[in-house]
Amino acid sequence: MSDRDSVFFRNFTIFSAVLTVLAIILILIGRSVHYSSVGDHSDQVDRSVVQSNIQPVATVNTDPNAVAAAPVVAGGAEAPFDGSVDGQLIYDNVCMACHTTGAGGSPTLVKSQWDSRMEQGIETLYKHAIEGYTGSAGLMPAKGGRTDLTDEQVQAAVDYIVSHIQ
Ligand code: HEC
Repeated sequence: MSDRDSVFFRNFTIFSAVLTVLAIILILIGRSVHYSSVGDHSDQVDRSVVQSNIQPVATVNTDPNAVAAAPVVAGGAEAPFDGSVDGQLIYDNVCMACHTTGAGGSPTLVKSQWDSRMEQGIETLYKHAIEGYTGSAGLMPAKGGRTDLTDEQVQAAVDYIVSHIQ
């Protein structure tokens, strides 16, 4: 071995020894921390704490009335579209998805599809649009599915439909 080799070997041995001592110290510290924090009740798990830690962040509410009731519970939440009764605005944003495409059997703004409906009178059309109903063509959801709309907003949309039937 050359001088340089033996110097390296000595330094390396010291370095390894220091690392080994350090590792042992860390293991001892780790053990003492573990035992002091877990203490005697290491095999007693507080189930209520575990339950609250792993509970889901949300649950699905299958109560059909809950959705309709929500705005009331929230203390009379603001009507959407700033409470606007602009029939076209409501129609474009809520009703159009079905009534322009005819999705799900919904009548499009074509006269032949509305003749028999118009015979029921406008009040029935309002009622069916607000409360929803199932006819022979399909399901008209209450307020087009937007139960946060006011009755006036839905009526304005019906008026828009009725005046745009061609
Ligand atoms: C998810 C699709 C869908 C949306 C959204 C929708 N409708 Fe309808 N609507 C229907 C279907 C389907 C029918 C036909 C039901 C039948 O007669 O069988 C219908 C029928 C109607 C009728 C006729 C009622 C009658 O007595 O013949 C009116 C009025 C109406 N919708 C208004 C609206 C208004 C206003 C909106 C928006 C606020 C809207 N709809 C949104 C699907 C929809």
